[in-house]
Amino acid sequence: MRATPPPKTYRVKSFGCQMNVYDGERMAELLADRGIVPAPEGEDADLVVLNTCHIREKAAEKVYSDIGRLRKADGSKPLIAVAGCVAQAEGEEIMARAPSVSMVVGPQAYHRLPEMLDKAVAGERTTDTDMPPIAKFDALPARRRAAPSAFLTVQEGCDKFCTYCVVPYTRGAEISRPFADLLAEAERLVAGGAREITLLGQNVNAWTGEDHKGRAIGLDGLIRELATLPDLARIRYTTSHPMDVTDGLIAAHGEIDKLMPFLHLPVQSGSDPILKAMNRSHDADGYLRLLERFRAARPDIALSGDFIVGFPGESEADFEATMQLVDAVGYAQAFSFKYSPRPGTPAATMADQVAPEVMDERLQRLQAALNRDQMAFNQASVGKTCPVLVERKGKKPGQLLGKSPWLQSVWFDSDVSIGEIVEVELAEAGPNSMAGRVRASATT
Ligand code: 5AD
Ligand code: SF4
Repeated sequence: MRATPPPKTYRVKSFGCQMNVYDGERMAELLADRGIVPAPEGEDADLVVLNTCHIREKAAEKVYSDIGRLRKADGSKPLIAVAGCVAQAEGEEIMARAPSVSMVVGPQAYHRLPEMLDKAVAGERTTDTDMPPIAKFDALPARRRAAPSAFLTVQEGCDKFCTYCVVPYTRGAEISRPFADLLAEAERLVAGGAREITLLGQNVNAWTGEDHKGRAIGLDGLIRELATLPDLARIRYTTSHPMDVTDGLIAAHGEIDKLMPFLHLPVQSGSDPILKAMNRSHDADGYLRLLERFRAARPDIALSGDFIVGFPGESEADFEATMQLVDAVGYAQAFSFKYSPRPGTPAATMADQVAPEVMDERLQRLQAALNRDQMAFNQASVGKTCPVLVERKGKKPGQLLGKSPWLQSVWFDSDVSIGEIVEVELAEAGPNSMAGRVRASATT
């Protein structure tokens, strides 16, 4: 590769989960620290970071086609870095197959991006997929600006080894960031403008640490501490695993006003044999009982989940069990996917892979039921007045978009500022958002 002038502008494109969004923000901060500025909307960037997701099918193919399409208006290629889970899983292959890529950096190594960039400018291609736990966070610059609703990664990795999932391989073993570091980062986010913080982790409720006094605490203890930050109004967390739900976390939902009434608790299937084959370590009934306990602590809690249809061996009866579980829960929202074999995972080589047309049909039925329940949840909210955190401007002049406590998107006309929390009456329900009317300015 030839030497190139140092890049003046960058663009980070993040795909997949919220952890990637967080990592993308942190990579942007690293580049900004180097004096590189974000490329204006619609203009070429000198450096493009593709922050990839490997969780579903054709992820790698999509990355290669994205790389192929990256070209500046004058026909030249920008500097290209591939980050995220595809980088971790297929680093060497990317280097071999895509000569225009000069940096491949895994999710635990991206703090080294500036050094890799220096090498890229000198014409050297580098791959860094090391997985040193925590080191990344210590090496990142302090946070400065923050959106009204900001992410904070508190935990990374997964030890659960669900048989369909690549995450334990691409993100490594479960690690928790130290309490003091999290408190400091949260304080900086709040100082930088955040009113809401969403605590992130592949298994966020597996977070453990020690508080100021050296006492062992779990996620609920961390939430309790963060709730004492005066200018922080809202706390959320995602994604949780049923096995790591504690009594303390359930109780926190009834006791901490700043903890929003929302729980994303993936179940994947409603069939016990399938859950066993998935190595989920819970059954359908245990999951439903957990949700009942959350509802007892916080009766208005909005529930969300993840589902996979067409896991190997899934019969019509297994799928029916999933539909029954959906009916029993009444989700406020949910994500559902067709099973996709991920190379290197145990399920990829299991017998009885389900035919694609069967998966399509089941996904349609499941999504129809989930959409129905989401609409019902939104309709049941009509007439309620609730605090809405204003996150951004809407498409029409004078229109603003914010989130209700139950994570519904709410549109309304107002001249309040982004970052304010206003009392809004939820006036009309749509499938994916609510139309609201401002009542009065609430806590700001
Ligand atoms: N196929 C389909 N869906 C998957 N997920 C994870 N791995 C796979 C796979 N191989 C889904 C799960 C998980 C969500 C983030 O992605 O539902 O909870
Ligand atoms: Fe993947 Fe299961 Fe870990 Fe979630 S809990 S990241 S689905 S292995």
